[in-house]
Amino acid sequence: MMENICALWVLLNLCFSVFIMAGIARGDVSYSLSEEMKIGSVIGNIAKDLGLNLNSLSARKARIDAEGTRRKYCDINVNNGELTVLERIDREGLCGKKSVCILKQELVLENPLESHRININVQDVNDNSPVFKKGVVKLEIRESAVKGSRFLLEEAHDADIGTNSVQTYTVSRNEHFSLAVSFKTGGRISCELVLGKELDRELEKEVTLILTAVDGGTPPRSGTVAIHVTVLDANDNAPLFTESVYKVSLPENSPLDTLVATVSATDADEGVNGEVLYEFSHVSENDLATFSLNPSSGQIRLTGSLDYEDESSFELQIRATDGLGLVSFATVIIEVLDINDNSPVIIIKTLYSPVPENVAFSTEVGIINVQDRDSENGGQVHCSVQQNIPFKLVPSIKNYYSLVTTGELDRELISEYNITITATDEGSPPLSSSKTIRLSVADVNDNPPMYEEQFYSAHVKENNKPGYSVCTIAATDPDWRQNGTVVYSLLPSDVNGSPVSSLLSVNGDTGVIHAVRSFDYEKFKSFKVLVLARDNGSPPLSSNVTVSVFITDENDNSPHILYPSLEGNSFITEMVPKAAQSSSLVSKVIAVDADSGQNAWLSYHIVKATDPGLFTIGEHSGEIRLQKDLSESINMKQNLIVSVKDNGEPALSATCSLYLLISDNLAEVPELKDMSYDESSSKLTFYLIIALVSVSTFFLTFIIIILAVRFCHRRKPRLLFDGAVAIPSAYLPPNYAEVDGTGTLRSTYNYDAYLTTGSRTSDFKFVSSYNDRTLPADLTLKKGKSVEDMLRCTGDELEILNQIFQILLKWESTEQW
Ligand SMILES: *[C@@H]1O[C@H](CO)[C@@H](O)[C@H](O)[C@H]1NC(C)=O
Ligand SMILES: *[C@@H]1O[C@H](CO)[C@@H](O)[C@H](O)[C@H]1NC(C)=O
Ligand SMILES: *[C@@H]1O[C@H](CO)[C@@H](O)[C@H](O)[C@H]1NC(C)=O
Repeated sequence: MMENICALWVLLNLCFSVFIMAGIARGDVSYSLSEEMKIGSVIGNIAKDLGLNLNSLSARKARIDAEGTRRKYCDINVNNGELTVLERIDREGLCGKKSVCILKQELVLENPLESHRININVQDVNDNSPVFKKGVVKLEIRESAVKGSRFLLEEAHDADIGTNSVQTYTVSRNEHFSLAVSFKTGGRISCELVLGKELDRELEKEVTLILTAVDGGTPPRSGTVAIHVTVLDANDNAPLFTESVYKVSLPENSPLDTLVATVSATDADEGVNGEVLYEFSHVSENDLATFSLNPSSGQIRLTGSLDYEDESSFELQIRATDGLGLVSFATVIIEVLDINDNSPVIIIKTLYSPVPENVAFSTEVGIINVQDRDSENGGQVHCSVQQNIPFKLVPSIKNYYSLVTTGELDRELISEYNITITATDEGSPPLSSSKTIRLSVADVNDNPPMYEEQFYSAHVKENNKPGYSVCTIAATDPDWRQNGTVVYSLLPSDVNGSPVSSLLSVNGDTGVIHAVRSFDYEKFKSFKVLVLARDNGSPPLSSNVTVSVFITDENDNSPHILYPSLEGNSFITEMVPKAAQSSSLVSKVIAVDADSGQNAWLSYHIVKATDPGLFTIGEHSGEIRLQKDLSESINMKQNLIVSVKDNGEPALSATCSLYLLISDNLAEVPELKDMSYDESSSKLTFYLIIALVSVSTFFLTFIIIILAVRFCHRRKPRLLFDGAVAIPSAYLPPNYAEVDGTGTLRSTYNYDAYLTTGSRTSDFKFVSSYNDRTLPADLTLKKGKSVEDMLRCTGDELEILNQIFQILLKWESTEQW
């Protein structure tokens, strides 16, 4: 039973002490601390007392803030939660004579924002001894003074408070005086000398005493003063104050030199003895700097500034002394009236700058604390930021605000904000203050490079030099530094089967595209490449653009004459019947040009002729016609040199020779031998040709007979050819079919050529009619007809055979020349 009661008692005691410790208000904590503790001394474990998680202290940036702009006296150790002394704490310096000295500090934690008031009750330590203002007190006393007369003595001053201040006085042993000590309101002790045995000037002119003041500390401290008492003959009266306590009040914003109060004491004595002088008795240095006292008029004036928030009242002791040194004392109590004279103070506790531009809504970017030292409404503060910015202040715990985002940030639009915080109190008139903070927005790689154009095209003349700069592409990226640095590269692809990198290269930094090699219009006329623009962010962003390169033609190909061929040693002889009329088609020069446009626009001219004026050539058709009817006198062998010229700048040309035999009879053929211009053929070639021709003649004859026997029973139309020249298809590059209307071949020739030639190795043609005007239209060879069709249409197989044999004969004879 007894143990139970004991336990309960201990528990109660514990609760009580915890209640004392854990403070007045929720979230507040109070500690008691003796002044003058060593720096680093532990005041208490605040984390434990507030129930804070030790591990989160440093993460939450736990720190001690002094309230307002006052000093910071303690600090928190974030590792163990202990509150330690950071600076010397001198109670007298902090609070002077105030009986309670509370040091206000604040513990601030972030995330979430939390603040706890710490009240440190600074306990007095007896570290000051009583002090007398003067080293020697002079007192003049009449010899007629009666027993029991009292003489007020000056008090000793002890900066400590309570029992550590002066508690008692003693006077050295003597035969005349004793001491009367009396306690006054406010804890002051006054002491008076009491005359116990009359003075006799004839015996002693002077008495010296030692007065000791002792304080109540352990151990006690003391101070002494010597009192010189001069014994006077004359009779005198002490001055008398009109009031023992003067009470005045004064607004804190009173200007300097304001008359605070006038004290006055009267003295019944006549003359010099009745003149009263006033002076401050014991006043602190601070009070002495704040007030002045006119020694003769007794006017107290303001010489320093008042601050209600620092000191709300003053108590001044005034001493009046007459000409004989008799004194009396009065007290002036000055109340300071509070005025709304303090603007709110804005303190930026935390600012997270720069803020990444992709922060979410309502992200806390700063913590602001406002303080106002005024009391009542003058201390009520409202805080706001300017409009039109994506930030606002959200009230947090008392006097704290969170600065949060209210919209999206975009560094590329606004890279920094000047946020002006305005704090206004509720006093009348209200006071306000403002502070501007600079918040910068940090870049996030949120913009891909953008090309200035949607696509690029470049025109390059063929035969360019490698390294020729084709065009320049440009992409911009508004992001910051490497997030906005654009690097160009070609996307791998194929152009006509070769990698694009073999054609073009791009300068990664400048976007200049160079040709890697010389282009040939005749190989490809245009191609497209994709160029990637990538920034250097991580991850990088990119975009691509199509660059079309068009190669423009240059006149770099001479006309190529297909007929009459210049290849090999063969040459061509046309037979012109003697009966041929004027303007009938004799032959045709066929040429092509690999260039295009004007560069392939060919014109034909006869540059030399055996009989000038006999033949004309169509300027663009290349058709050679008789210009007049043949006469007997004309040379049978005609030689024409035709020049083919394109229309390029400069023009390129080619020439060919044409041999014409005006004859109806192949019997005249041997004479053609004279026309041969090539007699240098080697014997070996000659024999080879003979052998080849014999074999092929035999083979051809065989085939033709087989075919004839097989199809001769069918109805066969006459096989006729128009004036068109048969062209071996081997001469035709595949792309000739594309060229039209420029004087070169059309696709129809392709067909004709294919159908009318049996062999690709020899050059020969059928000449059936020289007058194309006489040809029946339906008998013209149509494209699309097969050899089979042709043969089927033949009416008279003998005629065909005859024709074929004639040709073979002719061919054989030409080969033999
Ligand atoms: C913010 O203020 C600074 C200096 O006061 C000034 O240089 C800057 O241009 C201001 N910025 C904006 C975005 O107004
Ligand atoms: C680039 O953006 C990334 C995020 O995308 C960011 O972390 C980095 O700081 C940015 N760099 C610069 C130089 O601003
Ligand atoms: C090029 O960009 C387009 C969109 O701009 C995208 O669809 C395409 O995938 C890109 N091509 C490459 C090869 O990156």
